[in-house]
Amino acid sequence: MQKKKSSYKKTTIGEHDLKPESLMMSYGYNPKFSENAVKPPVFLTSTFVFDSAEEGEEFFHVTSGRKPRTSNDDLGGLIYSRFNHPNVEIVEDRIAVLEGSEGCVAFASGMGAISTTLLSYLRPGDTIVHSSPLYGGTETLIGKVMTEFGVKSHAFTDGLDKDSMLAAMRKAIKDGNLKMVFIETPANPTNALVDFQALNEALDIIESETGHRPVSVCDNTLMGPIFQQAVPQGIDLAVYSVTKYLGGHSDLVAGAVCGSKEKLAPIWGLRGAMGFNLDPHTSWMISRSLETVAIRMDRANDSAKKVAQWIHDNPYIQAELHHADFKTDPKYQAVFKRQCKGAGSTFAFTVDAPKATMFKFINALQLFKSAVSLGGSESLICHPASTTHSGVPAEARAKAKVTDGLVRLSIGLEHPDDLIADLDQAFKAAFGNKADKVA
Ligand SMILES: Cc1ncc(COP(=O)(O)O)c(C=O)c1O
Repeated sequence: MQKKKSSYKKTTIGEHDLKPESLMMSYGYNPKFSENAVKPPVFLTSTFVFDSAEEGEEFFHVTSGRKPRTSNDDLGGLIYSRFNHPNVEIVEDRIAVLEGSEGCVAFASGMGAISTTLLSYLRPGDTIVHSSPLYGGTETLIGKVMTEFGVKSHAFTDGLDKDSMLAAMRKAIKDGNLKMVFIETPANPTNALVDFQALNEALDIIESETGHRPVSVCDNTLMGPIFQQAVPQGIDLAVYSVTKYLGGHSDLVAGAVCGSKEKLAPIWGLRGAMGFNLDPHTSWMISRSLETVAIRMDRANDSAKKVAQWIHDNPYIQAELHHADFKTDPKYQAVFKRQCKGAGSTFAFTVDAPKATMFKFINALQLFKSAVSLGGSESLICHPASTTHSGVPAEARAKAKVTDGLVRLSIGLEHPDDLIADLDQAFKAAFGNKADKVA
């Protein structure tokens, strides 16, 4: 009998390749191992029974790295839920399908995924280059925590310019062993892009100059995996806050790293050693969420464009939109069209107003909820400078244009007309009277 419960991995009907959307309903789960239940049960068990003592020994050889792990099917079987369990394996298999990567390792949070990735590849004396802005938590992890562990960092802000990336890499090489380039694209909250192609070219140059290629990591939370896949575009590892679009209902916290099995091997090992695995119940909820991620993201994408257009045309106050479709820089548009399939549904806008006015606007909203996070079924509004990015040094915040006049919207699944009506009355309350401005 087959040992693994998640080995049901049919991806074709005859010659026809099934699309990722279709695979979300079945891939990685074999009903035969669960009384023919059409959906996987939640495997609430901490440990798994070996068929024999020899089998237990064999599984441990593989899991502890004494034998090579060559595929997700070679994990060494199910041992103990801190290492692996059927529900997390189903989620990992399906997220890998969506990202278009060879494998995936899931985590108890997005920050668990990011910190384990950093700790897997960086040691004291190493350096890291990163794009800016980053999600505030990642910025703090790299700028503060990793510095305390002896890993220095250098940032670049223009992700559309190969030379600015190269300049940051060369500075980092002077400071230590450059081991990693970490990017977030589009960036939270400004939707600034990092050009994958330019980054790969810069890494080629660094490799030819130093004989060593730093590992590239992309936080693909904002658009991935429906509107942007990083790994198929040459990035080594794509990290996700699964809490956001993949989970999609603001009712769980999880993370993931996607990439080749070779690049994931140390991350998988460290996850077990540190105890950051995702639990069975949350995994089960994610497997349910993945069935609808494509339609949720498509619908939110369409609504976000309507809402952004209304903000662009609003009669109350001039707003600078940080939504990909409204960026006018031809360089940005060229990269956007090459590497993304849609603008997504998280975007910010900036108005020339003090914090107090922005707070008045946020407080006047009735349908949008004032909360951090994004990618859920409900629409959220957030003031990054005073919340998610308040830990980022003021200078870095100003450089990345995360000002007091910037607010971020995450558009959910409500009807866009209702969201626009809510914005209309809140704009009016905060920024002035429509009749005065139109006249
Ligand atoms: C872009 C991005 N990356 C990573 C994270 C961290 O993920 P988590 O909160 O799941 O740990 C967040 C959280 O807001 C985020 O927005």
